[in-house]
Amino acid sequence: MNLYERIPNNVNLSQNKRLQRALERWLPNYLEWWREMGPEGFQDKDVYLRTAVDVDAEGWANFDYVKMPDYRWGIFLKPAEADARVGFGDNYGIPAYQEVPGEFRNSLRRIIVTQGDTEPASVEQQRQLGKTCPSLYDLRNLFQVNVEEGRHLWAMVYLLHGYFGRDGRDEADALLERRSGNPDKPRILEAFNQPCDDWLNFFCFTMYTDRDGKYQLAALAESGFEPLARTCQFMLTEEAHHLFVGETGVGRVVKRTAELMKESKDGDARSLGGISLDIIQKYINFWFSYSLDLFGGEISSNSADFFAAGLKGRFKEQEQYEEHVAAEGTFTLMVVEDRKLVPREVPLRNALNEILRGEYVKDCERAMTRWNKYLRDAGLDAQLYLPSTRFHRHVGEFAGHRFDIHGNLITKEEFERSRSEWLPTLADREYVRSLMRPVTEPGKIANWIAPPTAGIKGKPFDFEYVRL
Ligand SMILES: [Fe+2]
Ligand SMILES: [Fe+2]
Repeated sequence: MNLYERIPNNVNLSQNKRLQRALERWLPNYLEWWREMGPEGFQDKDVYLRTAVDVDAEGWANFDYVKMPDYRWGIFLKPAEADARVGFGDNYGIPAYQEVPGEFRNSLRRIIVTQGDTEPASVEQQRQLGKTCPSLYDLRNLFQVNVEEGRHLWAMVYLLHGYFGRDGRDEADALLERRSGNPDKPRILEAFNQPCDDWLNFFCFTMYTDRDGKYQLAALAESGFEPLARTCQFMLTEEAHHLFVGETGVGRVVKRTAELMKESKDGDARSLGGISLDIIQKYINFWFSYSLDLFGGEISSNSADFFAAGLKGRFKEQEQYEEHVAAEGTFTLMVVEDRKLVPREVPLRNALNEILRGEYVKDCERAMTRWNKYLRDAGLDAQLYLPSTRFHRHVGEFAGHRFDIHGNLITKEEFERSRSEWLPTLADREYVRSLMRPVTEPGKIANWIAPPTAGIKGKPFDFEYVRL
């Protein structure tokens, strides 16, 4: 069988011999990685999946039953715009880079490798989850996320193979060699080494960690390196479904918890086999804080360099801003000095990580408001919340200090004393895990989560999304 018929693409792969040869070497290794590290126990099952076979409205979302190893992982870029220009930074207004500019080569490679590494990492983190799915609908969504993360890896590998020559090929190989959570060859970013072994973790991960991905991709979708910008623009259309899975997933858990709290005599969802609000809150605290780290340091010379070079813009750079050079201007943020929190003014370009993080936090607050409505609608007073962005941080200005959930500076001892109120304990995790029993009968759902309000692609909830 012709290898390239299996790879739908809009990059003229059949004409590009050099790229063909590179992918010919990489593809078998990718498939081997997928078999070894992809969803365990479901490789030979038919799954009702969306496959992109083109970028237009018709082509990007083809639904059919597919066995995951036969998924057609394609290479898609949003079609080029005529006369594209570098949209920000010191080179604002010059023609967009169609090749990698020599002086930015290392920076660009690092950006692409860091993004690329997250894609297979999340597949590895989630590989056991199929065995404990709360419904066939959720099982299908898990696999949809997994195959698309696989395609996002392809997207980054295309850029490495297509634009970085020899060292690009080496990086593409290394993307298949690192393993999530493996101490000897871990994935690059810490959130992607955390275990994601129950479905509350999965929903929080797709809510918070995938959502960081949305903001990173959005910033790269502005890039002056046009192939990267166009690649990320198309990835964002797929990513939207992952965020939907996360936001509605946590929302459905909250909704069910509210129902069970009302039903039980003492207002305790656990007595009826649900997940209590305090455990949900702790999972939120955990994943929100780890995901904030992914934006990088609050004060960052890298962010300034990437912006100056026209490689990584701000969120909705063209839509949201009128002035795209940002060489002047300052931003005030809080830092720790002499054991006190004090404001510090920094050049705007050095604060771009923090500004992007701010956009992300707004988005997370929006989802939180929605979930809290479920609680209010059930007549409950309790509310969930986002912890302070200083809480439980391992990267940036606040790493190495301890803060309470409200962002007040506290001692290490004070933090340790309250840790079990703020972050999931072993007992919390074991309890959640004890609820994780597979429900695979069409139309049935686990007790700890509410059913979705609609199925996939107009299908009902009781559709056989995965043929077991
Ligand atoms: Fe992705
Ligand atoms: Fe994703």
